[in-house]
Amino acid sequence: MILSKSEKSRINHMKSRSNRKLFYLAAGILFLIACEHEPQDFMPDDNNGNEPGTCDTINVSYKGSVYPIFENHCLSCHSGPNPDYGIDLTNYSDVAAIAQNGTLLGALKRLEGYYPMPKDQQPLNVCEIRTIEIWINDTTFEEIECDTSNLTFPGTVQPILQAKCFECHSGQNPEAGIDLSDYSQVATLAQNGALLGVIKHEPGYVPMPQNGSKLDSCSIAQIEKWVNDTSFNNPPGGDPCHPDTIYFEKDLLPVLQSSCALANCHDDITQEDGVQLTDYASVMATADVDPFDPEGSDLYEVLIETDPDKRMPPPPNNPLTQEQINMVYKWIAQGAQDLHCDEDCDTVNVTFGGTVWPMVQNSCFGCHSGGNPSGGIPLENHADLVAVAETGQLMGALNWEAGYANMPRNGNQWSVCDRRAVEIWIEEGMPNN
Ligand code: HEC
Ligand code: HEC
Ligand code: HEC
Repeated sequence: MILSKSEKSRINHMKSRSNRKLFYLAAGILFLIACEHEPQDFMPDDNNGNEPGTCDTINVSYKGSVYPIFENHCLSCHSGPNPDYGIDLTNYSDVAAIAQNGTLLGALKRLEGYYPMPKDQQPLNVCEIRTIEIWINDTTFEEIECDTSNLTFPGTVQPILQAKCFECHSGQNPEAGIDLSDYSQVATLAQNGALLGVIKHEPGYVPMPQNGSKLDSCSIAQIEKWVNDTSFNNPPGGDPCHPDTIYFEKDLLPVLQSSCALANCHDDITQEDGVQLTDYASVMATADVDPFDPEGSDLYEVLIETDPDKRMPPPPNNPLTQEQINMVYKWIAQGAQDLHCDEDCDTVNVTFGGTVWPMVQNSCFGCHSGGNPSGGIPLENHADLVAVAETGQLMGALNWEAGYANMPRNGNQWSVCDRRAVEIWIEEGMPNN
């Protein structure tokens, strides 16, 4: 970590100490000359009452010298969830960023072009400013640890945007019409290059945050990695996926398509009982869904019907699983909306039971189960899936390769991420884990 100085920086320190001797000598001479006229102009009052001579400029450290100055003069405004100007001085990477780009000293020394800090207060005393300056000169800032593993939108990128951009780019009337609290807008900017362009201050883009200091290099690296690693294939208009929310297209539609919207049932041709279950619009128009009231909605009622003649899907089809029935209930209880979200693609923790099977259950089981499975191919358990994976049919059908039937039939092609997960499971030897 940065606070412990390496041998190398101790050498730098010694070098700068001898430079400093020269400086004192020159300053002393200047002082004598200046004294004859207006001595108080040369050295502003020392707020601590320290004589300049008692200022310890030798043992300067971040924790012991610099941070305490922030605590005394700055943290009242520059910390907490909403720090002034997006600068959080309890966050080392923020400090490193303004130290490196000159803003920190510019503001403290009240140089032209910088906002004078601490705002609306006396300047820091000479010793304090000097301490910070020595620390900046002696520090090698590349030592900042930057974690670019396990990046997620809600966990990594959104907090940065929230701290640095929301102030102008969210709410009723966001700057430039850009609302960065809206995931789909972030995704669009990420894809067309503008997001990285503005934060990296690339030519052709307005540098962001506007009038603020550039993001620290770690934040930029994290956002860049997230942009490069994310497949933005999912339809725009979403948010990061919340585990408790049912997303119609992602979660529920595959079940309806594979178990209900079948030929001679509720597809767009047969529309049995006038009910069509092929997409959101047809479900809302024909399936008597009463948002927020599952018990008052036919779509849910027919699933839990005990009379086998009325239950859907009717025998010999398998009933939906309890999990799927619960999902329908929850979706209606949450308002039966057509919400979208963008999944973070987890290709690390792929298992049969946790990843592959739930997707097959929802997208395929309806047709590929029971006494007369579609295509004569049952997909009811691990062994069934292994059999069809070993022939190459599984990936051929999922990837919509020439020579294979496109699966899920009548449904949307699985996302790149979902197909990759199945592939990984196959590559790992198709364990039943
Ligand atoms: C009373 C609240 C307050 C205090 C105390 C305060 N700041 Fe600020 N700081 C602000 C605000 C607000 C801004 C945005 C510019 C403005 O409105 O003046 C800002 C801006 C800055 C900037 C950006 C300057 C620029 O020109 O880009 C830096 C750096 C900074 N503060 C550092 C500090 C440091 C270091 C301290 C303590 C020595 C400090 N601030 C104390 C409120 C404060
Ligand atoms: C202090 C307010 C403010 C902050 C903070 C801010 N912006 Fe902006 N942003 C603006 C304004 C104003 C414009 C319009 C600039 C123009 O057109 O000259 C803009 C424009 C943009 C644009 C379009 C620029 C282009 O070249 O097309 C993007 C993208 C953007 N901001 C992203 C961000 C990001 C990302 C952050 C946070 C890292 C951020 N902004 C922080 C005020 C802000
Ligand atoms: C709506 C019913 C339906 C759904 C849902 C469905 N299938 Fe099929 N599947 C069929 C039918 C029917 C066939 C027979 C081939 C044909 O006639 O197109 C078939 C054939 C297949 C084949 C053989 C393909 C070939 O060309 O060799 C595979 C593998 C397969 N399905 C896997 C899946 C998987 C995996 C899913 C879920 C992602 C799925 N199916 C969902 C109806 C369905």
